[in-house]
Amino acid sequence: MEKTNHGFDRREFLKGTSAIAGASAVGTLAPLGLARAQGAKLRVGLMLPYTGTYTPLGVAITNGFKLAVEERGGKLGGREIEYFVVDDESNPGKAPENTNKLIQRDKVDVLIGTVHSGVAMGMAKIARESGVLWLNTNAGADDVTGPLCAPNIFRTSFSNWQTTYPLGKVLKAKGYNNAVFITWKYAAGEEMLRGFREGFEKEGGKLTKELYLPFPQVEFQALLTEIASIKPDAVVSFFAGVGAGKFLKDYAASGLKGKIPLYGNGFLTDGVLEAIGDAAEGVETTLHYGDNLNVPKDKAFRLAYAKAWKLQPDVYAVQGYDAGQLLAAGLDAVKGDISNKAGVIKAMESAKIDSPRGAWTLSKAHNPVQDIYLRKVVGNQNVVQSVAWKALADPARGCKA
Ligand code: PHB
Repeated sequence: MEKTNHGFDRREFLKGTSAIAGASAVGTLAPLGLARAQGAKLRVGLMLPYTGTYTPLGVAITNGFKLAVEERGGKLGGREIEYFVVDDESNPGKAPENTNKLIQRDKVDVLIGTVHSGVAMGMAKIARESGVLWLNTNAGADDVTGPLCAPNIFRTSFSNWQTTYPLGKVLKAKGYNNAVFITWKYAAGEEMLRGFREGFEKEGGKLTKELYLPFPQVEFQALLTEIASIKPDAVVSFFAGVGAGKFLKDYAASGLKGKIPLYGNGFLTDGVLEAIGDAAEGVETTLHYGDNLNVPKDKAFRLAYAKAWKLQPDVYAVQGYDAGQLLAAGLDAVKGDISNKAGVIKAMESAKIDSPRGAWTLSKAHNPVQDIYLRKVVGNQNVVQSVAWKALADPARGCKA
């Protein structure tokens, strides 16, 4: 074997020099590449429902995210934004195709969305495989920050468990021993029911009946008749968007309102009150946001949101806004160079978000650790009564991160 005078194998030496040459070429190119990456617009994919019962939720999340961007001069980490938008129709069957449109066709740098837990499960699989950064702005599917947790997957909203677990304690403290749960039959409804049951049973309460209808159906009459015959101490529910408004109106019209107290997580009454008159008056719910929080950031946010969009914000707007804030924290740390994924992730993991809902941080599984409020409908506001659970963290069962 031919040796160089340094005693190296010549071929190894040549490989070594070319490697060095390659490294130096990369070294001189890197700043240019970086400059180019930073100069180019950041490609943001919005995958949200813009048709169907969750349309108002998708719109509020979009508005909230864009407000956070506009407050930074239309930039994140110093980079202008180019939006790519897909209407996911809250259709889990189309989730893989829709997610791939954004990742493969549009080559987005970051994925923002969605609302529906079934759609989010499809997104999670692709986010894990592709490694694309994903900020989940609503969908509470417990598995996303459970068994499917991953370094590139973040959530700025809640886990389904988190929104109903505190309700068990609330109901028991009011002297209710049994309850019926009514919801849509899909991951979100089922997981919220399980969270409530866990919290209620822990306090000695009993969930006596589970009532379901397919998502997004709103033919509640037969189930309301069943509730009237069961006569539980309380009814607990999860509905959201346009369907929630219909449920509240039907509950009142059926004569149950005032006879059997109605509870739920706050999706039941957030963003729907203006459309339904006084049908929800007095309904109490648990949620990580409310309409009269005494939080300086909330006051500023509500003013800015109303000015920008001529609409009142709700919990969905806050979750979208916080996705913008969290992404800004990540991108600021790397001066917009999203190819430095480890740097972005590290900064996001350690961010403390100054949110309209009150400050929050992320758990190890990348889900917000946050206060859950007890609210009551007064007029067209969800008025905060108390903190139902301070700094509640999702148990992140099955997350190996
Ligand atoms: C969900 O499917 O995870 C979901 C949808 C709407 C909500 C909350 C959760 O308001």
